[in-house]
This record gives sequence, C-alpha cells and structure tokens, in this order.
Amino acid sequence: MIKKIHRNYYAVIGNPIKHSYSPRIHNLFSEQFNLHIKYELLLATRTNLFDNIKKFIESGGKGLNITVPFKEEIFKSLIKCNGNISKHASLAKSVNTLYFTKNGEWHGHNTDGIGFIKDLYLKNIALKGSKVLLIGAGGAARGILGPLSEEGCEHIHIVNRTSEKAQEICQFVNQYTDQRSTIISSGNLESSQQDKWNLVINATTSSLKNVLPNIPEKIYADNSTAYDMMYGINDTIFMKNAKRNGAKQCFDGLGMLVLQAAESFFVWHRIYPNIYPVLTSLRNMPKNL
Ligand code: ATR
Repeated sequence: MIKKIHRNYYAVIGNPIKHSYSPRIHNLFSEQFNLHIKYELLLATRTNLFDNIKKFIESGGKGLNITVPFKEEIFKSLIKCNGNISKHASLAKSVNTLYFTKNGEWHGHNTDGIGFIKDLYLKNIALKGSKVLLIGAGGAARGILGPLSEEGCEHIHIVNRTSEKAQEICQFVNQYTDQRSTIISSGNLESSQQDKWNLVINATTSSLKNVLPNIPEKIYADNSTAYDMMYGINDTIFMKNAKRNGAKQCFDGLGMLVLQAAESFFVWHRIYPNIYPVLTSLRNMPKNL
C-alpha cells in the first residue's frame, strides 16, 4: 500500500482533544493567506504518544500543537534527546508547539506566555511598574511566568493552594530571569491580602469546576484588571467574583488562546495572521460547538 504523504500537515495532540478550538483557529488563519493546510485532532495516551507523533511525521506532519496533559512530557523528551528548546519553553518546562525540520530535528517552543502578554497589550493593560497577583502554580502559571517576569512589573506575587509549589516556581524564575528590578515572591492563598493588586491572574483550573480559589476579597487596587486564563461562553465564576469585589475590568483567556495559536502559526509558516476576525468568529460560535 502506498502511504499518503500530506504536504502541509499540522495537528494538535492531547487527551481529551475533541473540544479543542485549534483546528478552527488554524484553518481560519490559513484562509487569510490562501494557504491550504490539513490540521487534525490527535488523541493520544501516555503509552502511544511518541508512536503517534512518529506516524504523524511519517505522513508528512510538519508541526504539532501539544496540549494537556503532554506539554511537560514533550519538554522532558526534548531534554533527553538534546533537542532544540526555546528560552520560553525552558522557563515553562513545557512545550506547546513542535516544529519538525526536513533533516529530522525537533524544535520545541512555548507560545502560551507570549500569547498572554500580547493579549494584555492588546487590551491596554500596562505591566510596567504594576503589582501582579498570579494565582496558581501548575503548568498554566509556569507557562506565563517567564515572559511576565520580563515586562518590568514592580512586584509579581505567586500564590497557590499548595504554597510549596508557588515557592518552587518562584525560586526557579528568580534564578533565571534577568529582570532584577521586579520583586517575585510567593505564598499561600491568604497572603494575597498583603497588598492591593493592579492585575490578578487566575491560572488555576478552578473555573473549570465552577469553584473559586479561596482568596481574600479585598485585593483589587483601583482601576484593576482580573484575568481568568480559562474561557467559556459566559463570564467565568472568577470573573463574576472579581467584578463584585471591585475589579474594574475582567477578561477570560480566549484572547490568549488565539494569540498563542498565532505565535505557533508564525513558528511554522513565518507569517503573522490577523487575530481579530478569528476572535469574533470564536465569540459568535454556537453554544453546542
Ligand atoms: P495545569 O498544569 O493544567 O495548570 P495542574 O498542574 O493540575 O494543571 O495545576 C492546577 C492548578 O490549579 C494548581 O495550581 C492547583 O493548585 P494545587 O497546586 O494546590 O493543586 C490549582 N487549583 C485547582 N483547583 C483549585 C481550587 N479549587 N482552588 C485553588 N486552586 C486550585
């Protein structure tokens, strides 16, 4: 049997995967340039992850988005085989974008953090000199912490239900960042009340379960912003709570999702798409999609 080789073949691999917006986003980006791509959803398990990636490359696959729960695993495998890893992927210790070269090299990037920072700038949220509270110390928090630490904030305080994890990522980023003017500290959720924050980021998965991280109420400075990295059809429980407690404006993570995808698109195609029509299309998507 002759194996079919695709010319412009991309995919997102994860578990679960069928809810992913990535095929829709990348197809919409490609249409802007009359670029004909095939972008698929690949379901994998820990056991067949690397076999699936191998098969994907053999079928002509040029680039992969990596999603939950494999971002850290791909990073570790790149470390083991001395693969190419970008600075932001190294700081996040996770990879969300893989690019395969013709001579068989794997390049690992993490575009989550830069997607997040660009989304803040598009929303006119100033970071320089600001006080930022980062709630959560899992993969999502690690993904944005490196790029966030490079933006000239006055103070970034990382809090987590399990405070040791916040301490661990705080030490890690303090070791690697060049930004000595930014104070980066950590604590338990309660320690959020040590100051009033200009930007409060929810990088926990609590909104997925429709619960709130147990943080004190009076933590929002005047004119502050609350940003939930999760997204949904309606405002998340975190956004609603932030509004009640004095946040001036609240956002979900859809902008970040589209912008991290735009960065991946750039890694693969070296062209930068227009994100606005894609954001509008996703916001207007029927509820059952
Ligand atoms: P991911 O890698 O996708 O970010 P994760 O590593 O499981 O997922 O991290 C989830 C984050 O959400 C963690 O910071 C977790 O806190 P713990 O480290 O204490 O587990 C946080 N989290 C999840 N549910 C939470 C809740 N109900 N309240 C507060 N924090 C929560």
